[in-house]
Amino acid sequence: WSLHLCESVGSTNAEALRLLQLEEVPFLVLAEAQTSGRGRRGRSWVSPFGQNLYFSLAIRVQGGAGQLAGMSLVVGLAVMQTLRLIGLPQAGLKWPNDVYVDGRKIAGILLELTGDPADVCHVIIGIGINVNMVEAAGIDQLWTSIREHVGMVDRNELVLTLAGTLKRYLERHAEAGFSALKQEWESNHIWQGRSCTLSTGSQDYSGVVLGVDEEGGLRLMINGDQRSFSGGELSLRLD
Ligand code: ATP
Ligand code: BTN
Repeated sequence: WSLHLCESVGSTNAEALRLLQLEEVPFLVLAEAQTSGRGRRGRSWVSPFGQNLYFSLAIRVQGGAGQLAGMSLVVGLAVMQTLRLIGLPQAGLKWPNDVYVDGRKIAGILLELTGDPADVCHVIIGIGINVNMVEAAGIDQLWTSIREHVGMVDRNELVLTLAGTLKRYLERHAEAGFSALKQEWESNHIWQGRSCTLSTGSQDYSGVVLGVDEEGGLRLMINGDQRSFSGGELSLRLD
């Protein structure tokens, strides 16, 4: 992957989307800081200078919706395995793609698409990992960083480990699809079998988490009925 290193950008995802007009994919954008880091559902990602990883990989995906199904969950698996490799065996996943350590959020993932998802498109895989951050204002939920568990970490080494792990998972996903990784994902879901509430924004659904479907949608058992939910605006919380 060719590399774009930025001192400070609004968002590495936005920068990758801009560079798509100028550069061949695949390429990677890394920044020391983001001034408008993006989270899911229009929320913001706290991104102070020099402490964390702000990583956006631009790739081309061909072959229709099947090639995209479950991709963001697979990226979550790659981030989780990266954290385990550097000494955090307790890293786990929260549907759809948050990475948690001991009940606190340590990393977030935001995939953005341009082009035709049914044919050829570009996907920006945005990953934020809290690395050496020990204090932060404006995060309205429990969070942690790698440093709190294993001490100061070299961010260059972390990028290399993440890039290698992500490449392997993306290749496996492209070759065999999400179904080949579904079981691995479910066995690392921190809320598997737990009673949770899924919010669509306009409605709440309470049920027991059964796992995920072949496309990466969440499967809930609600009053004896199984239902699958998918879409970018959904949010899951523990009852
Ligand atoms: P869910 O993913 O279940 O919908 P969420 O609360 O994690 O819920 P997201 O939209 O995925 O929401 O992520 C954005 C949220 O992440 C922000 O509203 C904030 O609470 C939190 N957040 C922002 N920056 C950081 C950070 N650097 N580390 C950890 N959490 C952060
Ligand atoms: C979330 O949990 O809501 C997703 C957060 C994603 C944050 C990363 S940091 C690198 C990339 N650039 C962004 O603006 N967002 C993603």
